[in-house]
Amino acid sequence: MRLYRYQLRFWRGRALLAAGGVSVLVAGAGIVLAGVASAAATRYEAESAPATCDGVIESNHAGYSGSGFCNANNAVGAAAQFTVTASVAGAATLGVRFANGTTTARPADVLVNGSRVTGASFAGTGAWTTWTTLALTVPVNAGGNTIRLSPITANGLPNVDAVDFEVTGGSVGGDGRPSDANIQYYGRWNKSDSSYYAMGWAGGYLDARFTGNSIGVRQRNTIDLYYSIDGAPIQWRRNVSGNVTLASGLSGGTHTIRIGYRERAGSYTGDPVFGGLILASGAQTAAIGRPSNLVEFIGDSITVGQPNANRPFTAYPWLTAEGLGAAHTQVAQGGACLVSQDCYGMMDWFRRSSASATYDDWNFSTYQATAVVINLGTNDIGHGVSTTQFQQGYITMLQRVRQAYPNAEIFAMGVFRNRYVTETRNAVAARNAAGDSRVRFVDTAGWVDPATDTSDNVHPTEAGHVKIAQRLRPIIDQYI
Ligand code: GCU
Ligand code: CA
Repeated sequence: MRLYRYQLRFWRGRALLAAGGVSVLVAGAGIVLAGVASAAATRYEAESAPATCDGVIESNHAGYSGSGFCNANNAVGAAAQFTVTASVAGAATLGVRFANGTTTARPADVLVNGSRVTGASFAGTGAWTTWTTLALTVPVNAGGNTIRLSPITANGLPNVDAVDFEVTGGSVGGDGRPSDANIQYYGRWNKSDSSYYAMGWAGGYLDARFTGNSIGVRQRNTIDLYYSIDGAPIQWRRNVSGNVTLASGLSGGTHTIRIGYRERAGSYTGDPVFGGLILASGAQTAAIGRPSNLVEFIGDSITVGQPNANRPFTAYPWLTAEGLGAAHTQVAQGGACLVSQDCYGMMDWFRRSSASATYDDWNFSTYQATAVVINLGTNDIGHGVSTTQFQQGYITMLQRVRQAYPNAEIFAMGVFRNRYVTETRNAVAARNAAGDSRVRFVDTAGWVDPATDTSDNVHPTEAGHVKIAQRLRPIIDQYI
């Protein structure tokens, strides 16, 4: 048996960034789910353990494969059961090879791992020596699965020869609700309300694949949302609420969508929640890949991308990670500091699910970052944080990030305004000396020219963010 796995390949977008463009790639567009559809089916014979037959294994009607077939008892519930192995979870095609020498169809329940997933009807084939294959689609888990054919009439099953089993597609079609396992979330989402998942920090987004010729999204109260279909440039839909149609008249086949929301911050009190995808009639969601790398960016307004209108997707975190083919999160808040001294101190706040959480409520096992980039220190000066306090705070921050993400590469950026840079460097050295070798200082001297790359001497313009991403991406790329 050939084992196929999803081969996730992400177009890394280097050329685009190198060219200084500000177009944004959507990871979903570059995902290739390869190999699965062409996987050869594997045959499981009814007469071979661990298959079971509530009847007898016989070989008196020619045309079977292997050494015989299951002649199950003619009774309700007299089953044939197979144990199949799936290389990945998802939808599988099951070809049930059978013969029914009568003129009456024999219906059965199909149970996967003990749960009924569908029904099947085995029509008369004309003779007990005439074998045919009935194709069914069933959901399976990765690894071993039992497939049980359990008749629902007193005639029992037909004679069952074998099943041909093949995983043919990602997860089983989903309904687009927030809890749909085919939807991939990035960032910190509060999922306690099953109707609306709430985006915690800035820069959260979700990816999905779907069938059908239209797509929409269910919102609650007014929000600015952005989206991209099939990797097209990201577009805004501002001040929308309720059921929002995003596209119609799409071509057949499957499509990808990414959706994200403007963060709640300052005077903006939009409602950044996701209430589910609105699919066309009869359409479904399908599995979408998840990059193997996730870069978490911890910072302040610069990391959010404020005040640029197209934040977060024109901010350096998004651009840097997309350029690496990585997922990304922006645990960042305008005005944030490192130290909590009359300020959002991210050394504490990065442990929270959102900037409005009241305690360190985030569960870091929800996702693990493979790289963490810290850009903090621009605002501490305005809150009277001493250099000693800052350095000690930064050491604590680095310890905490390590605790949260045991396997991450950690990058401590010197801030563009050259504040506490020596202390940042010293904190990294202290952690290195303590044995954490995967913490690195990123020297950003000369990256940002306040006169040309910022709008106000502090906040990079969109072009400024592109420049930062061009510098940062190759540094991270060396380690992840
Ligand atoms: C006949 C046939 C069997 C079959 C049975 C049935 O006896 O020979 O192979 O299983 O009919 O009706 O189930
Ligand atoms: Ca029988």
